[in-house]
Amino acid sequence: MTEVRERRGAIEAAAERVRAQYGGAIGRRREALVTPALVLDIDAAQRNIERMAARLRELPAGIRPHIKVHKSPELGRRQVEAGAFGLSTATVWEAMVMAEAGIDDLFVVNTVAGPDKIRALAELARGTRLRVAVDEIDNARALSAAAVAAGGTLGVMIEVDTGMDRCGVDTAEEAVALARGVVELPGLRFDGLTGYEGHCSLTPEHDLRLEKQQTAMNFFTGVADAIAAAGIPVGVLSAGGTGTWEWTASNPRITEIQAGTYCVIDNFHGHMAPGFDHSLTVQATVISRRPDRVIVDAGNKSMGAGALATIVGHPELESFRFDEEHGIFAAGQGSTLKVGASVALIPGYSPGTVNWYDAYHVVRDDVVIDIWPVIPRGPGHGGLLAG
Ligand SMILES: Cc1ncc(COP(=O)(O)O)c(C=O)c1O
Repeated sequence: MTEVRERRGAIEAAAERVRAQYGGAIGRRREALVTPALVLDIDAAQRNIERMAARLRELPAGIRPHIKVHKSPELGRRQVEAGAFGLSTATVWEAMVMAEAGIDDLFVVNTVAGPDKIRALAELARGTRLRVAVDEIDNARALSAAAVAAGGTLGVMIEVDTGMDRCGVDTAEEAVALARGVVELPGLRFDGLTGYEGHCSLTPEHDLRLEKQQTAMNFFTGVADAIAAAGIPVGVLSAGGTGTWEWTASNPRITEIQAGTYCVIDNFHGHMAPGFDHSLTVQATVISRRPDRVIVDAGNKSMGAGALATIVGHPELESFRFDEEHGIFAAGQGSTLKVGASVALIPGYSPGTVNWYDAYHVVRDDVVIDIWPVIPRGPGHGGLLAG
């Protein structure tokens, strides 16, 4: 039987490891880093966190930021210190790490299957206020059995598909039936609904995105009404990513938003969420100059959505193609960049960028002041479970 490993110390061990590996960079300017290097401008990230917190103080909803974006216990702690209710995660491992970071209110915004992961969740729920998404009764039964066996209580959020065509119940009737089932199950606590409207972020046009967001939230709140009409109180209504955050947080029915990318931002989200600074960049070096191309040493093993990447200070260069170790930018009008030049790339997509790296080079005024681990890195559990 797989059991949850002793978790104390995983963050500290990762921090020590990356400081041993990359600590030589402390004190260097970003242009002097060995590339590709993940760079976090800590003051810009803090400004983003505080801007979001300040605006939310004026709006009905609170925030439970999604940390799959940054996978940083330190940024997660700062978000909670700025007033977040707790944190959202995509995986059980992320929740384990954030619990170790001292965050005691966590939501795995995903359905979780498989005995090892479910057992890990149930164990974690013993010492942490923990929620998980559910969209079918058999899965809820498995969670219930694990929670009872672990001697804890697991919060359940029924996932509603608000238009994304991913997980989630499709109709109010299905949601009501599931809620009725969940409230009968021992070891579970029915906390509310989750309905991330991620499909809206795939709609760059402002008005159409707003229309889709409103349709999604009308459906979502209608599902909540149906469950309430069946006599089951719905406490939490959670939704909202960076592409729709202000609209969703302005809806008086929504209790919390799940936006995460605002903290670091990227080019995919930037135009949809103005007012946040690009705190996350990838430092890269020009390795080849062709008459019509600039090629850097950060390809699609260093950058998520390279097609949307840009080079700071060189808006004339357009992403042409990203190969594994080559980021190729079109320089039809020529470029002053020469081989050996160090450049900062703004990621196309932050979560798919951070996940490649072991460590952040944390900079202030472009000088590295610390090295922070990306934890848990990659899709695997990284030793957080024994199995
Ligand atoms: C379920 C869920 N909630 C929230 C988010 C965060 O959204 P964003 O990255 O736009 O802030 C995501 C991102 O994919 C998500 O999958």
